[in-house]
Amino acid sequence: TVLVVDFGAQYAQLIARRVREARVYSEIVPSTTPVAEMLARNPAAIILSGGPSSVYAEDAPTLDPALFEAGVPVFGMCYGFQLMAQTLGGTVDNTGSREYGRTPLAVSRPDSTLFAGTPERQDVWMSHGDACSAAPEGFTVTAATDAVPVAAFENDAKRLYGVQHHPEVMHSTHGQQVLEHFLYRGAGLEPNWTTSNVVEESVAAIREQVGDKRAICGLSGGVDSAVAAALVQRAIGDQLTCVYVDHGLMRKGETEQVEKDFVAATGVKLKVVDARERFLDALRGVSDPEEKRKIIGREFIRVFEQAQAEIVAEHGGEVEFLVQGTLYPDVVESGGGTGTANIKSHHNVGGLPEDLEFQLVEPLRRLFKDEVRMVGKELGLPDEIVQRQPFPGPGLGIRIVGEVTEERLDLLREADAIAREELTAAGLDREIWQCPVVLLADVRSVGVQGDGRTYGHPIVLRPVSSEDAMTADWTRMPYEVLARISTRITNEVPDVNRVVLDVTSKPPGTIEWE
Ligand code: XMP
Repeated sequence: TVLVVDFGAQYAQLIARRVREARVYSEIVPSTTPVAEMLARNPAAIILSGGPSSVYAEDAPTLDPALFEAGVPVFGMCYGFQLMAQTLGGTVDNTGSREYGRTPLAVSRPDSTLFAGTPERQDVWMSHGDACSAAPEGFTVTAATDAVPVAAFENDAKRLYGVQHHPEVMHSTHGQQVLEHFLYRGAGLEPNWTTSNVVEESVAAIREQVGDKRAICGLSGGVDSAVAAALVQRAIGDQLTCVYVDHGLMRKGETEQVEKDFVAATGVKLKVVDARERFLDALRGVSDPEEKRKIIGREFIRVFEQAQAEIVAEHGGEVEFLVQGTLYPDVVESGGGTGTANIKSHHNVGGLPEDLEFQLVEPLRRLFKDEVRMVGKELGLPDEIVQRQPFPGPGLGIRIVGEVTEERLDLLREADAIAREELTAAGLDREIWQCPVVLLADVRSVGVQGDGRTYGHPIVLRPVSSEDAMTADWTRMPYEVLARISTRITNEVPDVNRVVLDVTSKPPGTIEWE
């Protein structure tokens, strides 16, 4: 394992991903972790991340020099680099000459461990105020910039390396190569961490954890729960039952996708609960978005509980394990604990009951989203499931502005299916993060179709580009594609006579309309 020491900011996760892209397994530890604890994990190498601090700031994170004496290869980046310089006796000045953004780097030792085979001038991404003016003793300076005399240093004898820039950022044109040079050449690691290893290891770990007990998994139709279920199924077969609640708010073909494609690909034992009537009844007369969300969450819990009781009645014994598709970023962001907890509440599966006592099986808790997709592929899941864009738990229920009725759902399902079909045909699925299609059920406008006047509803297209859904921008997609979607929706969907485009970023607008 390569440990990435997190000095704050958002860099550590990106570094960990880049290390894994180099096929070396990595994990993140907070910078407050005692060095003895880090070393106790027998790391193959340690990477010190960047961070928001100046080494001169009052509460700047510091580093125990013991880290450099354990014989473990270390690579410092940005703040990690400066901390390394300072701790090992180099000089870091508060020069006031900030470098921010794309900066040309001059490599002075083109045959060095880090820079071999990369150009003597290369663009790197910088983000710092302080600068290193003298390397610690025993280190060779291998690169500089106009503002920083020591922008990289290396000590092959001690296997200690550092760069002022951010090699993990895409804008550093040779960043991945520099990182891989550290891993392969500096630390002598082999690129042998692959998704098939992940599958094998997870399967063994799940068998060990669950033994001959029973497990249950709520399927939402999304990528994470599908891949988690497929992994657990591979490990314990029929001891797993998946529950899929059909609340009638899914898009066209989604329920069938779970019922047919997912089962065909995994052989999983699936319990589909048809709760469409129940959800429609509960939503009757309600148009307030928050109220809708609460009702959908509440009904979901009830249906899931009932399904669980039925499974117990059918098979006897107890269901002791709950499978969840928790991902590594969730784990890191919530404090990064290891091990499995005996928990009560969990927010990942569309609001499961708080008082259900399960042990959790979370086979994806070490993986990033793109790795989850690769594992899904490895397990033979179809692209329609593995490459799926995000879709909210409350489904189309929060994409009908106004009361949710069966007719409106049917209508929206048709419009949504057309939009998705055309976006896919235009090859835009990767570029667009997701494209909610919204029915303004309480709005009517006048139109003319055929020879007659119509008085129908508008459909809103909300294509957005985003990296994590926290912020988003509306996607500048080709007019021709918009035109095709508009023509088809107004021709093919009854009662819709207008298609409009949402050109609002997030903030101020959220991605969903409700
Ligand atoms: P907003 O509308 O808040 O959405 O900008 C951000 C992302 O979250 C999705 N979303 C949900 N996902 N349950 C979910 O599982 C929900 O209740 C929910 N509400 C919004 C939304 O589709 C977008 O990707």
